[in-house]
Amino acid sequence: MTGTTRILLTGATGQVGRRFLPRLVQWAGPDAVRVLVRDPARVAQAARAGVEVVTGDLREPGDRAKALAGATAVVNVAAAFRGVPDEEALAVNRDAAVALGREAAAAGVRRFVQASTNLVYPDGLGRPALESDPVGPSPRFGVYPRSKAQAETGLRELVANLPGDPAGAMELTVVRLAFVYGEGDSHLSDFLPRLAHWPAHKRLPVVHHADVAQALWRALSMPSAAGRTYNAVDDAPVTAYDIHALHGLPLPAGAAGATDQDPWSGMASNALLRAELGWRPLYPSLWTARDAGAL
Ligand SMILES: NC(=O)c1ccc[n+]([C@@H]2O[C@H](COP(=O)([O-])OP(=O)(O)OC[C@H]3O[C@@H](n4cnc5c(N)ncnc54)[C@H](OP(=O)(O)O)[C@@H]3O)[C@@H](O)[C@H]2O)c1
Repeated sequence: MTGTTRILLTGATGQVGRRFLPRLVQWAGPDAVRVLVRDPARVAQAARAGVEVVTGDLREPGDRAKALAGATAVVNVAAAFRGVPDEEALAVNRDAAVALGREAAAAGVRRFVQASTNLVYPDGLGRPALESDPVGPSPRFGVYPRSKAQAETGLRELVANLPGDPAGAMELTVVRLAFVYGEGDSHLSDFLPRLAHWPAHKRLPVVHHADVAQALWRALSMPSAAGRTYNAVDDAPVTAYDIHALHGLPLPAGAAGATDQDPWSGMASNALLRAELGWRPLYPSLWTARDAGAL
């Protein structure tokens, strides 16, 4: 990062963004970071540290323009998927993300990092998903993964068709996150009701917030990440049995004898992120994070 770098981070008040922001400030310097938030009171500490705060809604063109003025990089972490209507999920996750990308390219942004999800992959691969696999989210996960997959496609299309000299054009990097946990996030315990009908051996692919942060940072700062897509997932998908054990809970009735019909569903390989960006998970498993006091 150079002295003239101005990084716009969206979603800074969310589970991922609020843990990424202090790291971004440390790695890039507070003067290099700007956030677009709906409620500035929630980033008051970062503002005191020197982060520039733009108040607005990602769906509003005028707010996007304010947030992008002078920006040289964007990390688009914002998304609407927790209990929102389908129209809002599509408006934020797909339409606003692609609009932000289009306007970022016009504003002179050089690197656009899009946070996406491992749920964009289809079921039935019979192995961990690779970044080279076509996207095709399962309809059973609803509109959210579809909106994220369509955002990826829309952003790729616009970057491929940017006018002017490709050498000076905006580069896109997509980071597909597995189920994110750690650092006080209640995500895993909130997920327990969903596990009630899971076979004991069914696995959930996970990644710790610290490792999400270093994946996003590498995607943002490493030249070799330009134009690439990466899975960010730890080394040890965690079983339903383990998640219950972690919470001191017995297995639900029937879980021990049930069979997972698609044991590779949701699984993704982190080999590319390791090989190309040198990423190594600080917490390769949930148990490592537990033992380190990082849950
Ligand atoms: N958490 C996971 O396990 C996981 C897994 C895979 C992928 N991801 C991806 O990671 C990213 C972050 O997820 P998260 O868990 O941090 O989500 P989250 O906790 O729900 O946070 C979403 C963030 O987006 C912001 N946002 C939503 N609608 C907005 C709008 N119209 N204008 C401006 N900001 C808006 C929210 O702002 P407010 O605080 O104002 O609502 C919040 O900061 C998403 O792109 C998601 O697809 C997450």
